[in-house]
Amino acid sequence: MNFPENLVDRLHNSKNIVVFTGAGVSAESGVATFRDALTGLWARFDPMQLATPQAFVRDPALVWGWYEWRRQLLLQAEPNPAHLTIAQLQQKVANFQLVTQNVDDLHECAGSKNVIHLHGCIFSPRCFDCAVSYSFSAAPDMQQEVKIPPPACTSCGGMIRPGVVWFGEALPQGEFQAACEAAAQADLMLVVGTSGLVQPAAMLPALALRNNATVVHINPDAHQSGQPNEFALRGTAGNILPLLLAQLHHSK
Ligand code: OAD
Repeated sequence: MNFPENLVDRLHNSKNIVVFTGAGVSAESGVATFRDALTGLWARFDPMQLATPQAFVRDPALVWGWYEWRRQLLLQAEPNPAHLTIAQLQQKVANFQLVTQNVDDLHECAGSKNVIHLHGCIFSPRCFDCAVSYSFSAAPDMQQEVKIPPPACTSCGGMIRPGVVWFGEALPQGEFQAACEAAAQADLMLVVGTSGLVQPAAMLPALALRNNATVVHINPDAHQSGQPNEFALRGTAGNILPLLLAQLHHSK
């Protein structure tokens, strides 16, 4: 792939890098995205029945069982070249921050450190009532998504809920603030595999652009880049990121 000349210069000169990822970075690990037309989870499932606090209260077993099914799929997934390249990039760059919307741990499995998880983590459930954290005792064993009643909190008896951020809920405040600070300070932001449709996470690239960062979208879908410091590299993260890493000559 030939990168635009003016992008290559910007890549060479960048010193403060933020990588912002969405479900597309895990797609090549076999993990379904949310909004891809045929394969996305929200093409097959209704988020309002599964991913809101009201849905959990209405039918806890439906919601818990669905997240257990997803947890099982994620336990079988492995990092792909995109996750591995992002981890390598962190090794090369002194000022680096990875921010993800993903609730999997594939970035960590690839070796990334200090990852900001804006939407929580499916492996870190907690009590719906008292927020005490809960440890899974076993991996789920399911052929498909089925109803499973959530376990009870050992502290207050409340229902254990998935450790993810649902629609209508606030992002973890410290994480979001740290992500905004990193985005505002970045001179390069790589936006990898996100539709950019879910706020407030989706405001991070705009924040970086406003602060004159170079923003590079890596996605098989076209991105309308409106500004001179905004670029779109069309393709999968697993193909493009290794090529892009080769353009970044950094040493810590
Ligand atoms: P989406 O499913 O909305 O978007 C996934 C993006 O990844 C799309 O733009 C795809 O074109 C792109 N994509 C697909 N395969 C790719 C590949 N191999 N390489 C690069 N890009 C690829 O997922 P998100 O933007 O992450 O919320 O969705 C944001 C939030 O909405 C999620 O965090 C989730 C969901 O509801 C929570 O879990 C709270």
